[in-house]
Amino acid sequence: MAMKPQTHVGRNRTGIQMSPLDIREMREGTDHTVPTSLGDKEAVSEMRQRYISESDTIGSVPVPGTLTGMLETGKGFLTGRRPQVLIDKLGERLAFERSGVRLYDALLAKCEADPASLGAGAADRLRHFRMEEAQHFAMVADALDSIGADPTAQTPCADMVGVEGMGMMQVLTDPRTSVSQCLHVILDAELVDNAGWELLITLSRQSGHPELAERFAQALHQENQHLVEVRRMYEASVLAEATGSLPADRDRIAPGSEAMPTAGGGLFHDSSPGEDNPPIKGTVGGGSANGLDPTAPRGAPGSEGQRDQGSS
Ligand SMILES: [Fe+2]
Ligand SMILES: [Fe+2]
Repeated sequence: MAMKPQTHVGRNRTGIQMSPLDIREMREGTDHTVPTSLGDKEAVSEMRQRYISESDTIGSVPVPGTLTGMLETGKGFLTGRRPQVLIDKLGERLAFERSGVRLYDALLAKCEADPASLGAGAADRLRHFRMEEAQHFAMVADALDSIGADPTAQTPCADMVGVEGMGMMQVLTDPRTSVSQCLHVILDAELVDNAGWELLITLSRQSGHPELAERFAQALHQENQHLVEVRRMYEASVLAEATGSLPADRDRIAPGSEAMPTAGGGLFHDSSPGEDNPPIKGTVGGGSANGLDPTAPRGAPGSEGQRDQGSS
């Protein structure tokens, strides 16, 4: 497979410096441009507030369908707790971990399309992280089961993170994006993932489920490793590209070491969106927040929940 060029200087004409003689005329043009509609940012804000005050919420947490769930809910209400918040956030983590699997799948496909861009050890680490995301998904599904909640239900926050992840999946599955650019997205996801697990551990304890908090602490420990290593891979990839380091040089350094410039991979062969190419757009390759197989193909995130889920 032919290697793609890395970030390069080309025929990008988006900046004003491309035509200095036209700068004054262009600036005059902006003075004479008439808005296509009435109003200003205050009017936009007022309209948004009107919509907000008139709208419903995004779906609901389902009524428990099991005896354990009913007992759990009853116990929560008796003690003044609101167990639906924990269930909602568990649903969120479930959806996010599943998306994580798909993000890593897309990153690995990108790396495999350009094997020279990534040291073998680094690819193995990414595969390992992908496996752990799948394990976390199963862990959360078990946790929902253990408190009598339905892991197949899409909760409001599950829907929310599905929509949130749409841009991430778009970047990962755009054939023009580089491994380095995709690592930026994975870093983004891992930062949110870590914060999500931390909150879930605190929330589980506060909700009277220390046993869940203990299990989740193990996932958080692994997520910390994902974050540290993905960040290192991303930074190394950008720095290596800036110095024109060869993939072969990077492969000599073991993944996980401080000086690892390998993992970023792809760095030397990116596609160059933004030049003569249109901006990233197109379909989203993510998944709906329900369904229990993180590797199964799905429709667009939020497509069911946000539009179809009635509030109750
Ligand atoms: Fe995760
Ligand atoms: Fe992770």
